Amino acid sequence: MEDNKKIRKRDKIKRGFSKLLKEDKLKAVAEYIENPGEFIALLKSFWYQDSEKQKQFDEFSENTISNFHIPYGVSPNVVINDKSYIVPMVIEESSVVAAASAAAKFWSERGGFHAEIVDVKKVGQVHFCWKGDKNILFDLLPAIKEELLQNTMSITEKMRKRGGGILDINLLDMTDKIENYYQLLVTFNTCDSMGANFINSILESFGHTLQNFFSRQNQLDEMSRDIEIVMCILSNYTPECCVKVWVECHVDDLNGVDEHLDGKGFAEKFKKAVDIAHIDVYRATTHNKGIYNGIDAVVIATGNDFRATEAAGHAFAARNGRYESLSTVDIKDGIFRFTLEVPLALGTVGGLTSLHPLAKKSLELLGNPSAQELMMIAAVMGLANNYAAVKSLTTKGIQQGHMKMHLANILNQLGAKESDKIKAECYFKDKIVSYSEVERFLQCAMNNVQ
Ligand code: MEV
Repeated sequence: MEDNKKIRKRDKIKRGFSKLLKEDKLKAVAEYIENPGEFIALLKSFWYQDSEKQKQFDEFSENTISNFHIPYGVSPNVVINDKSYIVPMVIEESSVVAAASAAAKFWSERGGFHAEIVDVKKVGQVHFCWKGDKNILFDLLPAIKEELLQNTMSITEKMRKRGGGILDINLLDMTDKIENYYQLLVTFNTCDSMGANFINSILESFGHTLQNFFSRQNQLDEMSRDIEIVMCILSNYTPECCVKVWVECHVDDLNGVDEHLDGKGFAEKFKKAVDIAHIDVYRATTHNKGIYNGIDAVVIATGNDFRATEAAGHAFAARNGRYESLSTVDIKDGIFRFTLEVPLALGTVGGLTSLHPLAKKSLELLGNPSAQELMMIAAVMGLANNYAAVKSLTTKGIQQGHMKMHLANILNQLGAKESDKIKAECYFKDKIVSYSEVERFLQCAMNNVQ
């Protein structure tokens, strides 16, 4: 139980905290830690020396008191549509980069990854309620549309010049679900930008235009001149901003992947594992999580919004009324084909992509790709991680590879010397790794030296 003094202090912190200077915020928070001095020193040790750079990071978010580092790795040898990439991956989980890299190398020797954009349409909605006669609403739609487009000409000007803008405006009658409820469902092409601000600005303008339009319809009764705009916001569900990636080879080219099965046997077992993820939600969730290990790492490294892409992917995985695997396997005429189709609304200009110095470098490392090219790269890393995970699961199991990394982490946590690390790696090759076992091993190693 927290004592009253601490609770009172926390109440104090709540008021006006956001207005405090960063140093004072840090001090105020440190009050809740056993050793405030150590806490402050640790958090400050993660500040950048360069105050301008630090300021830039502080301003990405709010109430910032430090930076939280996550490893930035690369996966070399990623061949997509005959082009080779070094793919930056930001992820805290061990084995993901190693698994993606091994899969990328494996498939680079079998034709590489293939990728194609399915479509690049993004969606936004104006949710509103209107009590008038719905026939009148639909009759007025052409005039409404014209005004909506006219009033957003200045917002869309630059995007139109780049070949994008508003693609379509649809009026949906949802009154059978919620009384008087309609939707403007708007589709956009936002070219190389993720486009969230662009879309939301347009939708809010649409909201104002709708209100204004109806208030001027003097031929209507008073009730019908009133429209309630409930909200205007983009949708992160982007089934039409979608990319398809796949690998394929003759099953004989999979000989040697498993020590107990030939290529055909491995391919069939692999397919079974993916089929299970189609019919079982528990497995599907883990299966798709493995896909997002790869996708998120690229999305984060390039300054994109991983919550948005994950949300879209999981909704897409449930598009048939049941949550299922995002990847599929086909084996036909001896050809093994492993495919991933996934919605990915990514950007390569604007937002954090140009503000975060490492996101900018990630894009440079990828050869400054278009948004469509980045969609392909991120999806490929999802497929690479999915292949690696399902391959391990259906052959030697996942723990062998994981444990190697786990061992390295434990050895680092325990501050093991380099010489002891080498000995431990050898010792644990055929043993189960646990924190206490590694601790015991290091203790014995120390005792032997003494
Ligand atoms: C771990 O991060 C991801 C896996 O569980 C994915 C899978 O089971 O397919 C290995």
